[in-house]
Amino acid sequence: EKWPYRHYMQKEIYEQPTVVGETLKNLIHAADRTISVSQTAVGLDLAAVQAVTIVACGTSYHAGMVAKYWIEQQARVPVNVDVASEYRYRNTPMAAGSLMIVISQSGETADTLAALRHAKAQGQQVLGVVNVPESTIDREADATLYTLAGPEIGVASTKAFTTQLTVLACLALALAKARGQLSPEDERRHVEDLLQIPARIEQVLTHDDKLQEVGRQLMHASGFLFLGRGAQFPIALEGALKLKEISYIHAEGYAAGEMKHGPIALIDEELPVVVVAPKDGLHEKTISNVEEVKARGGRVVMIHTAGESTGVAADFEVGIAPCGEFAAPILYVTPLQLLAYHIAVHKGTDVDQPRNLAKSVTVE
Ligand code: F6R
Repeated sequence: EKWPYRHYMQKEIYEQPTVVGETLKNLIHAADRTISVSQTAVGLDLAAVQAVTIVACGTSYHAGMVAKYWIEQQARVPVNVDVASEYRYRNTPMAAGSLMIVISQSGETADTLAALRHAKAQGQQVLGVVNVPESTIDREADATLYTLAGPEIGVASTKAFTTQLTVLACLALALAKARGQLSPEDERRHVEDLLQIPARIEQVLTHDDKLQEVGRQLMHASGFLFLGRGAQFPIALEGALKLKEISYIHAEGYAAGEMKHGPIALIDEELPVVVVAPKDGLHEKTISNVEEVKARGGRVVMIHTAGESTGVAADFEVGIAPCGEFAAPILYVTPLQLLAYHIAVHKGTDVDQPRNLAKSVTVE
């Protein structure tokens, strides 16, 4: 039942504080601010992991891309991320000591399942990050970490994504800890940040009316560009995917630093550019991209840290409560989900059942 919400997607966006909180409970000891995902809890030899391969499709693939930044930074293990439909046909060798992580909301995606079977045939350990218990991927993986998103009805994935990120953030910290790369202070700091995320998502949801108005003003655009850097680059990709899926407006996500290598040619008054620009180590670089867009007459929607001056006037600004850089991607996707949602509602598309899309892709 979606009441009092108008669409399942909207309900699921609003459920995120709760389901991220539920998912976190399984992965951390809140009282002592430590990670509880461990070798024994997962049943896999995390300390021995030499390399990680992450395979998934669509939104789950974007979660995997964020995880690459997290695992490489925290655990100092090299990570490869691939879309399942490419990975499975490439016949890639997996080095001994590699861990494969497959991410799937449904646990039934045909290409992701095939990638899992390929890795297992090579004797690799496979860890599933799955939302549907007893799904095929859950049953076939050596171990599973569950996203406790509950049933996701809207075809466009929202709460499954933020809970995937929650699991993957904790897994990155667990890997780092198992490998002796995580100091107790950093563990405490990151866990405290993660614990704040549900309340901070609530705060992002208070921008709903504003994003509805931004959507109203931009709904007639024929294309959008989404930019981000670092772990926010996959968030930009996810923002573009959400918009494409439900509003049928073409959108492209780009690493902000790549803009000058091509897409800058597209910038004019007609193409809105959504920039994910929290106050992090790469903030100034991203702001210089915003300046380049403004200098060419582009319209900018800036998602930035509330209370921090960005030094550049965007056309629309959405201020997000400050949070630690590590957990920030979990927070910054929600304004993009809401923007896509409102543009689709303004356009009158079928938000929960967009044309040509299926919730679970069990065919190749
Ligand atoms: C996007 C979306 C799809 C799925 C993809 C993978 O909103 O829903 O891109 O993310 O089909 O599905 P799962 O996670 O079930 O393997």
